[in-house]
Amino acid sequence: MGAERGKEETLAKKGKTVYVCQECGYESPKWMGQCVCGAWNSFVEEKVPEAAESDARRRGSAPSGRAAKPVPLGEVRSGERSRIQSGIGELDRVLGGGLVLGSLVLISGEPGIGKSTLLIQSAARIAAGAGKVLYVTGEESEEQIKIRADRVCGGRTEGLYLLAETNMEQILAAAEELQPGFLIIDSIQTMYSAELESAAGTVSQVRACTNQLMRLGKGKNIPIFVVAHVNKSGDLAGPKIIEHLVDCVLHFTGERDQELRILRSFKNRFGTTSEIGAFRMEEGGLVEVQNLSATFLEGIEEGTEGSVTAAVYEGTRPLLLEIQALTASSGIGFARRTAIGVDHQRLSMLLAVLEKKAGLWLQDQDVYVNVVGGLRPEGTSTDLAVAMAVYSAAKGVPLARDTLVLGEIGLTGHLRAVGHCDKIAREAARLGFRKLILPKKNAAMMQGGAAELALCPAENIREALQIAGLKR
Ligand SMILES: Nc1ncnc2c1ncn2[C@@H]1O[C@H](COP(=O)(O)OP(=O)(O)OP(=O)(O)O)[C@@H](O)[C@H]1O
Ligand SMILES: [Mg+2]
Repeated sequence: MGAERGKEETLAKKGKTVYVCQECGYESPKWMGQCVCGAWNSFVEEKVPEAAESDARRRGSAPSGRAAKPVPLGEVRSGERSRIQSGIGELDRVLGGGLVLGSLVLISGEPGIGKSTLLIQSAARIAAGAGKVLYVTGEESEEQIKIRADRVCGGRTEGLYLLAETNMEQILAAAEELQPGFLIIDSIQTMYSAELESAAGTVSQVRACTNQLMRLGKGKNIPIFVVAHVNKSGDLAGPKIIEHLVDCVLHFTGERDQELRILRSFKNRFGTTSEIGAFRMEEGGLVEVQNLSATFLEGIEEGTEGSVTAAVYEGTRPLLLEIQALTASSGIGFARRTAIGVDHQRLSMLLAVLEKKAGLWLQDQDVYVNVVGGLRPEGTSTDLAVAMAVYSAAKGVPLARDTLVLGEIGLTGHLRAVGHCDKIAREAARLGFRKLILPKKNAAMMQGGAAELALCPAENIREALQIAGLKR
C-alpha cells in the first residue's frame, strides 16, 4: 500500500521523471533492474508532462471524441459495419472482407519484408475507387515513396497524397484538411507527439500517438493502417497495450531471400483470425498467390523418404503443405529434437506415441521436422503427417507422392477426426492426389468424397502406417 501511494505521489508531481518499461508499459517512480512483467533492463527514463491538460489527453478520452452519454443498446445502429475493399483480395480476406470504416489496423513484420509495398499498392487501389488516401511516412522521403509507387502501382496514383512528417499534431492537422478516406502511418515508432518530452519510439510516445490516431479514425470514420516494427524475437515492438487499443493486428512474414510472403492476423475485431493471405514479391510489387497449395507442393519429388503431404483448413480454404523430417544418429549426450513450424511439445508427444504404439525407437536419434514454405499450421490435423514423416525418415521408406495424410493422434495412438475433411478431399483431388489416409470417423462422415480420390480409413497410427506401406 505504502509503495503504491508513494508512486502516485511521485507521479502527481508534474514535471518529474518516471521510468517506463519498454516491454509492458509499466510505470515506476524508481529505476528497476527487472520489471513486474519479468523483462530485464527494460526501463527507460521519461518526463511526466507538466500541463494538467496534456495529462488528461495522455490518459485518453472517448474514442469517438463525443461527450460521454449512455445510449440504450437497442438504439445503437446495428448490422455489418460498412467496409471498403482494398483492391487486394488476399488482404481483404485476412481483414475479414475488406477494411472496416473507422478501424485501426496494425501491420508488423521484419525489416524489408514488404510492408510499405503492400500498403502503397492498396493505397493506390483504394485511391482509385474510394477516394483520397493519405500516406504518412516517417522513415522515407517523398521521393523514395514515389520511386516505389512508380515501380509497383503501374502509374495509377491518382488521389494518393504523401506526407513526410513525424509530428503527430501536424499529421492530424493535415488529415483534418485533406479529409482522406484512408490513412496510412509508416511507421508508428517514428512518430512523436509534441505533448510529451520523450523521444519517438518510446512506450509513452507510441501509446499517445496510437491513442490520437484512434480518436481520429473513430471520430471521422476513417480506416487507418499503422506500420509497427518488430523486436529481435519477431514480436511486435513496444508495449502490449497497443495491441489492445487497435482493432486488428496483422503480421507479414516470409523469408527475405524467398519470394513467398504470408499475411496473417493475430487479432481481428471484425473477422476470423484463422485466415491467411499469400503473396509473391516480384519486381513489380506483391502479386497475390491464388493457388497456395500448388506453390507449396511444387518441389516434392517421388521416392523421397521423410516427406509427407499434410492438409490444414486455414480460415475458409483448405491448404496442402509438405512436412519434412530427418533423423540422424545423435552424438554423445542427449538426442536433439528440432521443429520448425510444428509445436515442440506436440512433436515430443508424437515421438512418444511412435515409440509406444508403433515401436519406433528414437532415443539415440536426432529428429528434425520442418514445414516447408515457412508456414506454422495451427490445429492438430497435421499430427499423422508429422508422425509418418518421422517414421518414413527413420526407416528410409518413402511414401507415395500422390498420398495425402490427415488426422489428429491421441495419446492412445488412435486417430481422431479433423474438421472440413470433405473440402480438403476435394482440393486434394483437384491437385492430383489419388489416396487419402484419414481417421475412420472422418471417412464415415464423408458423403461420397471426390471420385478420383481413394479414401483409406485407419483406426490408429499403426494401421495408418501399414496402409501407407511404411510398416509391415
Ligand atoms: N526492384 C525490385 N525488385 C524486386 N523486389 C524489390 C525491388 N525493390 C525492392 N524489392 C523488395 O522489396 C523489399 C522492400 O520492401 P518494403 O520497403 O516495402 O519493405 P518494408 O517491410 O516496408 O521494409 P522496412 O521495414 O525497411 O520499412 C525488399 O526487401 C525486396 O524484397
Ligand atoms: Mg517500409
